[in-house]
Amino acid sequence: MSTQSALLKVMSDAARTAARGLNRDFGELAELQVSRKGAADFVSAADIKAEQSLFESLSKGRPGYSFLGEERGLIEGTDKTHTWIVDPLDGTTNFLHAIPHFAVNIALQREGEVVAAVTYNPITHDLFWAEKGKGAFLGAEKRLRVAARRHLDESVLATGVPFLGKPGHAQFLKELHQVSQKVAGVRRFGSAALDLAWVAAGRFDAYWERNLNSWDVAAGVLMVTEAGGKVTTIEDHGDPTQGASILAANQELHPQILERLRAA
Ligand code: IPD
Ligand code: CA
Ligand code: CA
Repeated sequence: MSTQSALLKVMSDAARTAARGLNRDFGELAELQVSRKGAADFVSAADIKAEQSLFESLSKGRPGYSFLGEERGLIEGTDKTHTWIVDPLDGTTNFLHAIPHFAVNIALQREGEVVAAVTYNPITHDLFWAEKGKGAFLGAEKRLRVAARRHLDESVLATGVPFLGKPGHAQFLKELHQVSQKVAGVRRFGSAALDLAWVAAGRFDAYWERNLNSWDVAAGVLMVTEAGGKVTTIEDHGDPTQGASILAANQELHPQILERLRAA
């Protein structure tokens, strides 16, 4: 049992409020599946509404903090030492296709370091959260630990497959070729935020992806670290919270997967 700090409560409440709107919109999507353009426009309106809701809740809870959101970019506050990093809807393609696997993602950066994180799945109501130095949790009850598996041949990894408009298709195929022949399974579920939360929860043994943004991964990097895991870039230098490349795993598997990826 863990009680959330006042800060984490602000973040969790903001995520739940934004999620209510997303859930309503998700319920209406089935009808829009017939009109492709209609559905896509509807989804981008849902993203923008959710980001506005998060901006309002977070600014009310902590006035003056800066706000970096996927949809609106950086809004500088009077307090430049604190920045919210927000993806209002991570898993847009799933949402658009009425696949119930997406998240509201919030990280708080203090003087350049991520200190608090919330990843909320509006459909399952799973609330993953972490605070620097205090651990990672699922809901009020469950402390998160990364999986204990030590061998690649028993591991299930998550990744992201590049799609239309994204770079790195050939590189991804090389990496998949190196990794897939050594592991029990590779999954592509379509939400980087949930992929990382699931590594923290020991559901996935590891996760790697390239060409993401800070709003996709900043929260999850803290979660995995607080759950005892290791997160670096695939190049093994630079800040993985920036999203250019990321590998998250437990301490034993991390070097083994890094070796495979670097052989690609
Ligand atoms: C996407 C998801 C997906 C990842 C993409 C991201 P979005 O975010 O996290 O899993 O593979 O690269 O852009 O667009 O749904 O917020
Ligand atoms: Ca995203
Ligand atoms: Ca998004």
